[in-house]
Amino acid sequence: MRRSEILNWLRETDAGRLEELWRLADRTRQQYVGGEVHLRGLIELSNHCVRLCGYCGLRAGNTALQRYRMSDDEVLDCARRAVEYGYGTVVLQSGEDPLLTRERMSGLIRRIKAETPMAVTLSLGERADDELAEWRRAGADRYLLRFETSNRELFARIHPPRADQISLLPQAGEGSVFRTAAKRNNRLAILETLRDLGYEVGSGAMIGIPGQTYDDLADDIELFGRLDLDMVGVGPYLRHPKTPLADRRNWPEAPEGEQVPVDETMTCKVVALTRLACPRANIPATTALATLNTANGRELGLARGANVVMPNVTPKKYRILYEIYPDKACIAETGRECRRCLIERIEALGRRLGSGRGDSPNYQQRSAADGAGRGGGPTAAPTREMRGKKC
Ligand code: 5AD
Ligand code: FES
Repeated sequence: MRRSEILNWLRETDAGRLEELWRLADRTRQQYVGGEVHLRGLIELSNHCVRLCGYCGLRAGNTALQRYRMSDDEVLDCARRAVEYGYGTVVLQSGEDPLLTRERMSGLIRRIKAETPMAVTLSLGERADDELAEWRRAGADRYLLRFETSNRELFARIHPPRADQISLLPQAGEGSVFRTAAKRNNRLAILETLRDLGYEVGSGAMIGIPGQTYDDLADDIELFGRLDLDMVGVGPYLRHPKTPLADRRNWPEAPEGEQVPVDETMTCKVVALTRLACPRANIPATTALATLNTANGRELGLARGANVVMPNVTPKKYRILYEIYPDKACIAETGRECRRCLIERIEALGRRLGSGRGDSPNYQQRSAADGAGRGGGPTAAPTREMRGKKC
């Protein structure tokens, strides 16, 4: 799809014309990844975070938040429950928590892989190459790391360097930290490392970050395609009052008429355009979209390009503390209730529950092509030449 078409769709306001985009995305989803909806059991294992992301309620600067870290046995209990619910994948997600060390996580991954048949997805933030390599050796299958925005200036503004690096700047307040933030998105380098290690690679972006323009968002969608992503998660930016980004006086405005709005239609447009840019990727109907529209946000996502949902299996006492933004959907339900509710919604759409691990068709195709070309196995890392092609 040409860039001008992406931009036209992003600015389209006519409901009748948008029906065409929804139909195109739904047809593409059916053609490339089929009618199954894969469920991933989400375990939010720690809300400790050393980072200071300007938008995220888990940021180290939020002293109002009570912190927790689940024990390995508690995580294992959740993983067993995910198997009981029939989920083929467990997602281990946390803030950037240095006490989730290389060894600890590798032991945990090994236990889950030994005791269950599930695929293991990690979403543990920006971690060192040796950690990512060790976790892959321990059996981790997939890694999620959103690049959040492809606009480097905006990324640097909302994503200051690590707290331990900040201590090198004497008496640095957040204002000066933002000014000195690295003008590059280190996450793209990490995504490349993940690819080389043979992970299924997932990334994504937020929609409607203050200062984010339509052009930025078109760049994000084009970048999803260029990165040849196996999984892409997109969701609306939701204001958390205990974060610097909540106070708009701190932030430069986008030029008049250029600011991306935070709404359900804009989120659906990005889901749909992402499906067109990455037809074989696994794309979730995100909790953030369900938070914007609790009545049928998930259904809209699934009908407009998505094929994955991530029901939460974190124990309730912890789940309420994993507050990246307020009023998160599905916070009051138990894991069992959440599962039932999702299954009913999926069946009402005329779709069926996925069986097995629900690996990304994009990854499978890449691995097969790589194996054929170089005699490598199904998880062999892709060649450099393969990168940069469209999904
Ligand atoms: N609003 C919406 N999404 C958020 N995330 C973090 N904070 C917010 C927020 N305030 C998303 C980021 C992150 C993912 C785990 O959650 O995109 O990568
Ligand atoms: Fe924790 Fe951004 S605030 S990773």
